[in-house]
Amino acid sequence: MKLFIDTADIDEIRTIASWGVLDGVTTNPSLFAKTSGQTYDEVLQEICGITSGPVSAEVVAEDVDGMVREGRHFAKIADNIYVKVPMSVEGLEALARFRSEGIKTNCTLIFTANQGLLAAKAGANLLSPFVGRLDDINQDGMIVIRDLVSIVEIHELDAEVLAASIRNPLHVTQAALAGSHIATLPFSVFQQMVHHPLTDKGIAQFRADWDKARKALEQKAGTAAGAPGAVR
Ligand code: E4P
Repeated sequence: MKLFIDTADIDEIRTIASWGVLDGVTTNPSLFAKTSGQTYDEVLQEICGITSGPVSAEVVAEDVDGMVREGRHFAKIADNIYVKVPMSVEGLEALARFRSEGIKTNCTLIFTANQGLLAAKAGANLLSPFVGRLDDINQDGMIVIRDLVSIVEIHELDAEVLAASIRNPLHVTQAALAGSHIATLPFSVFQQMVHHPLTDKGIAQFRADWDKARKALEQKAGTAAGAPGAVR
């Protein structure tokens, strides 16, 4: 499964890239609004310099021509830009137009498997069901991931399922087991995935035992030779 980071924060993207686990980046207007000092274009340019994986850039226009205009503009920034288009009647038409122009897309704000099916038929490369926002309203968001993955596979659709609105590490495991091709995670979830109390405790214990053993050897060598020796 590919892992994307869901942020427009350059430092966070650099950190996850340095871990060797970054396959792409998703941004949206709300994530961009948390950054400061740069235009959206500049942020996207910088992100595309960090990763060669897909980088989603979201349109804000709600009419087809506006979406197409914004998307064409984003597509010129770098080859790995994926234009993020919301699920709507206008969005479907824009997706079809982008597909005919060879511009890669990510259909966002998907909340049902049927919306995902429509987006794939219209030509979206990536299908983004929002898991966390469904869980928030007491619906099981992971069901949409599972159903959409099955639909894509059964009908050999030319699209990948991208589990979005991921809120915790359990969502990542569940999305992976559901066969989601991609999951996009906030920085905090990447951090949570690394740690386990027993791992941290184990590292501290190994270090303490190592230091103890080394000290004992140093003392022994010092006594035997009559001089302090550097024993590793
Ligand atoms: C996906 O591409 C979206 O940017 C994102 O996952 C939305 O997540 P949220 O529901 O936490 O805002």
